[in-house]
Amino acid sequence: MDYEKFDIDLRDCLFLGEGHNGIVYRLPDGNVIKIFKAEKHCRREYSILKKVEGSRHFPKAYSSLGNYIIREYVGGDCLKDYIKENGLSHNMAVGLIKLLDEFDRLGFTKLDIRCRDIYVLEDGFLMVIDPKCSYTKYRDFPKHLAKGLKKLGALEDFLEVANTEKPELYNEWIFKLKCAGLV
Ligand SMILES: Nc1ncnc2c1ncn2[C@@H]1O[C@H](COP(=O)(O)OP(=O)(O)O)[C@@H](O)[C@H]1O
Ligand SMILES: [Mg+2]
Repeated sequence: MDYEKFDIDLRDCLFLGEGHNGIVYRLPDGNVIKIFKAEKHCRREYSILKKVEGSRHFPKAYSSLGNYIIREYVGGDCLKDYIKENGLSHNMAVGLIKLLDEFDRLGFTKLDIRCRDIYVLEDGFLMVIDPKCSYTKYRDFPKHLAKGLKKLGALEDFLEVANTEKPELYNEWIFKLKCAGLV
């Protein structure tokens, strides 16, 4: 689909959600359009999505013009809702650790993510719908993730899995989470 010549009528689209920066609709062709309040944020997010192209954990970005991005639709459930409903399984905790590892592999300076920006696909695979400041903010431990998991009563389970899977990383995290008052 050549989106630059594509005349999008939002009345034909399905409202998916709204965040701090933008509003998101599903297009008739199945992809989504995210319309940003500020072009600056649009450019930043598009550039991150382009940099991470090739990683299966992020939606493909197809096109961007002015204040919008056309990107791949991500199904599944928001991690927050998923944990509320199902708790945090061992596999999901491993998935989160792997996702943070993927951030590192992609050269992110921000090794952190909010629960509401992660979507759980039907097979348990984790997708990031909304990467922010991944290459500009400096954060070397999952502070927001831990804060979100704590609220959901799942932080202890997560850290227990981290301790068995990646003990060195666990020790680093525990020290930093203690300093942040989260454990
Ligand atoms: N690629 C996508 N596939 C499906 N739903 C999406 C997608 N991107 C965003 N959404 C929905 O739109 C909402 C707002 O999008 P988000 O990218 O988080 O905006 P913001 O940058 O303003 O936080 C999300 O909470 C989610 O419900
Ligand atoms: Mg968001």
